[in-house]
This record gives sequence, C-alpha cells and structure tokens, in this order.
Amino acid sequence: MVKEDVIKSSEPTLAQPKVASVVNRPRSKNSLIIFTVAAASVLLATYLVFHFEPQLMKFLETRMPEAVPGDSMISAVAVINILKLALLAVLAYLFVRALNSLIFGLAFRFRSGFEAPTLVRNIFSIVAFTILFFLIFSRIYPGVNLGALFTTSAIFGVILGLALQDTLGNFFAGISLQADRPFQVGDVITVGAQKHSGIIEEITWRAIKIRTFQNHVVLINNSTAAKEPIEVCPRENLNARLVFFNTLITDSPAKTIHVVREAVREADNVSPKISPIVRIRNLGESAVEYEVKYWLDDYAKFNDTDALVRQRIWYAFRRAGLNFAYPTRTLHVERKPKIAGPDGAGGAIVERLSAVDIFAPLSVEETAMLAQSAMSHIFAPGETVIRAGDPGSSMFVVHKGRVCVQISENGRPLTVATLNNGDFFGEMALFTGEPRTANIVALEETEVLEIGHEAMKQVFQTNPDLVESLSHIIAERRQALAARIDSSSPQIDESAGILSAIRRFFGIIR
Ligand code: CMP
Repeated sequence: MVKEDVIKSSEPTLAQPKVASVVNRPRSKNSLIIFTVAAASVLLATYLVFHFEPQLMKFLETRMPEAVPGDSMISAVAVINILKLALLAVLAYLFVRALNSLIFGLAFRFRSGFEAPTLVRNIFSIVAFTILFFLIFSRIYPGVNLGALFTTSAIFGVILGLALQDTLGNFFAGISLQADRPFQVGDVITVGAQKHSGIIEEITWRAIKIRTFQNHVVLINNSTAAKEPIEVCPRENLNARLVFFNTLITDSPAKTIHVVREAVREADNVSPKISPIVRIRNLGESAVEYEVKYWLDDYAKFNDTDALVRQRIWYAFRRAGLNFAYPTRTLHVERKPKIAGPDGAGGAIVERLSAVDIFAPLSVEETAMLAQSAMSHIFAPGETVIRAGDPGSSMFVVHKGRVCVQISENGRPLTVATLNNGDFFGEMALFTGEPRTANIVALEETEVLEIGHEAMKQVFQTNPDLVESLSHIIAERRQALAARIDSSSPQIDESAGILSAIRRFFGIIR
C-alpha cells in the first residue's frame, strides 16, 4: 500500500513569487499615482508656506490676541517653524522613497538582474531620511544641537532602548540573515519546532514572510528565525524527496526496483539529471518496505510530484503484476515436496530439465524423478551462486535468468562464458570430486535448479551412456579454462580420463 495521502488533484497551486509580482502590477501603478499626487500637494503646501510666510505670521499674531505681545511673536514663529519642519520632513520622506525606487527598483535590477533585498532598501531609507531630517532640523533650528539632545538624554535613551528592544533585535537579526544569505526569496524553508514550512516571499527588517503549502502567509520574526533551526531547500539546488511504498514478500525485489525506477524517472518535475534510487528500507512482517528517492526540478511543487510519483507506482505495479502488501498472516503447512520453487510449479521444472541437452536421453518418468529431487534457488543480480575453490556435491540448471562463469586473472574477475535458460553448470566438481573451477555470478535475477549427487547417481545407473556425453562437455570446458589461464598449454582431449574418473566417483562398473 502506498503510504501517506491519496492524491488530491484539486490541491490549489501556490502563488509563486513571480506570479505575485504579476498580480501586483496594477497596485504599483496605483501607488505611483498616489505618490505623485501626494508629492505635488506637499510641494505646493511647502511653496505656499515659504512664499506667504510674512502674511501667515501676521495672521497668526492677530489670531493670538490674548497672549503677551513678545510671547505671541515667539509662538507664531514656533508654529511656522514646526509647520516648515513637518512639510520638509514629508518632502524628504517622499524624496527618499523616490530615490529608493530609482536605485533599487530600476538601476539595481537592470545591473544585477534581481531585486535588492527589502532589508537593504529599508536600511537605505532609514539612513537617508535621518541624514535629511538632521539637515532640515539644523536649518530651521540652527541653535539646537539635535545630536547632543539625543546623546545626552539618558532617560530618552532608556525609553527608546526599551521601546525598541524587540524591533532592534529583529533588525539586527535581519542584518545578520542578509549577511549570511542562508536563504533567499523563492527557497522552501521549514522553521523551528512548529515546522512552519513554505516558500519565502519576502525578507524584511522585521520578519521572514513565507507562503505555506495551504496558501497561508506566515510571518516569522527575524530574531526567532535566528534562534531556531531552519531547513532550507534552495531554489537553485537539486533537492531530493523520499516516497515510501511496499510490496508482498513474494514479489521480486529486482523486478520491483526496476519497475519503480523506470516509472518514477518519467514523471513530470522529476529531474533527469540524477536517476531515482529505489531501495529496500525494511523486510517487514508482511511486506517488503521500499523507499524511492528522487530529485526535483522545482522543489516548491513537491506535494504534487510526490502524489504523481505514487500514482505512477500504482499503475506500474498494475502492469507488472506486482502487489502492494496488506497485513497478512500466512500459515505454512510443511509437507514433503522436495521442489521448493517460488511457484512450486513442478511441471515447469520437468519441462526445463527435459530441454537440457544432457538429459535429453532420459525417459519422461526419469526426468520427472529428477525434477522431484531438484531444489530451486533464487539469486539477486550480482550474487555469487558458486565460488571457485569451494567443494561441490551438486550441479545446477539455469531455470530463469542468466549467469556468467568468471575466473580470476591478476586478481580481477574475467568472464569466460555466459549461461542462459536451460544451460547447466557445477557438473565438474560434482562428477570429478574436485573443487569448483570458477565463480558463477547471477547477471540478473536468476532461478536455478540444484541437482544433487544421489539423484545423478540414479540417472547414471539407468543411463550409463550419459557419462560419456558429460565427460566430453567437461573436457571441453576444462580446455577452455586452461586456454584462458595459460594460452600456451597444448589442447589435449582428456575426456577418456574424465570418463573413468566419473565412473569411479559414482561407482559405475562397465
Ligand atoms: P564446477 O567446477 O563445479 O564449478 C564452476 C563451473 O563453471 C564448472 O563446474 C562448470 O560447470 C562451469 N564452467 C567452467 N568453465 C566453463 C566454460 N568454459 N564454459 C561454460 N561453463 C564453464
């Protein structure tokens, strides 16, 4: 059963940062109009205040009749100065915003191809505005030292410090995040114990804004983010995913791995740069548990791709006759059948053995008896079936699959022959009593039938001529091996010697 959720084709597609900027275009047009109107109004108001300053002063003086003459004079100036300061401060603010857009919105984008981080833009605005404000203030109040006012006022410092404690924490954490650049807009991150996960939309001086996979917006304070562990899946990186599934114990791992790898490889958004990896995680109680690891072109779409991968696995299983596991209890009643094949198909084994050249002279009953005594074994690709130098008391027939005969040359494996369905091996040690002459390695998932000494002895007793044809084959194979090991050795037909050795070994008198 494929674990985790069933595929939801109606899952909303997330607004990517790129899409968001397209959607925002009319808004930015609106803000440009508002900005122009605001700038024009403030500019006009400033012009009017400066141009009609004497008239304004007079008007204010007449409006403050109850005040002492000297004092009302000072008050009117103060009011006008405050008005000037406010208007110029607003103008400075608008100027800084325009400059910010010009430098970071246009110039920066054209030169470096991407937008400047919001935090950098904000710092620029704060610094530029502070400088302009100081200049304006010292022009309007030349006698007041604003710097000294800020630095000498301890109480002011304490109040400001306490009020801005969190804000400054976020601000400096934001600066360190920008400096380290552990992630950027468009990356997928998972933050903290709550595991907030989503695509980064913005990093401001206060917080990281992420859009979750449920299309919610989560704001994570910079200072919180600086303290928490953050898992980052960068946009430009080949990020991997794991999807889990399982099969019945009886389904072949080699086949499952091949089928799933090919099915996943072709799914959309699975990167063609690295081939998916399918491997067994666990041999469970009633299932073989697997995981498939694949790499994504666009990690932000991992939910859809995981779902597609599971869907592809389901269809591939259907076509290949593989089965998802379900909780099972299998009761094994041990009987006496000697054929322990995975399918227990005695008929197929008789058919296989009767197609082997050396067993062709056997009657149907004799082949059936041989099949009865044969043991079936299954090997994974790359597994060694028999090892050179080991003692051997049985021979094998390839039932399904392919093996190679390997000898060692200068410490490296050298393949001398490949054996397919219906070919046999292991007869040399069985019939001569000598150690195995070569390694036999499965090239693919291979099922072999093992025939023991006793079964062969019975066959020889009823078919003594078989010994002769076998001795020829053994002689040929020996010569082929000798030629590989020492190409200068003379080719001698030693089948006569082998024949008598076999007869002696099996106690066949002739
Ligand atoms: P045995 O020596 O029992 O174990 C290794 C087996 O490899 C050997 O029997 C043969 O069955 C097989 N073998 C060795 N040489 C060759 C060859 N040249 N061609 C095919 N099979 C071979």
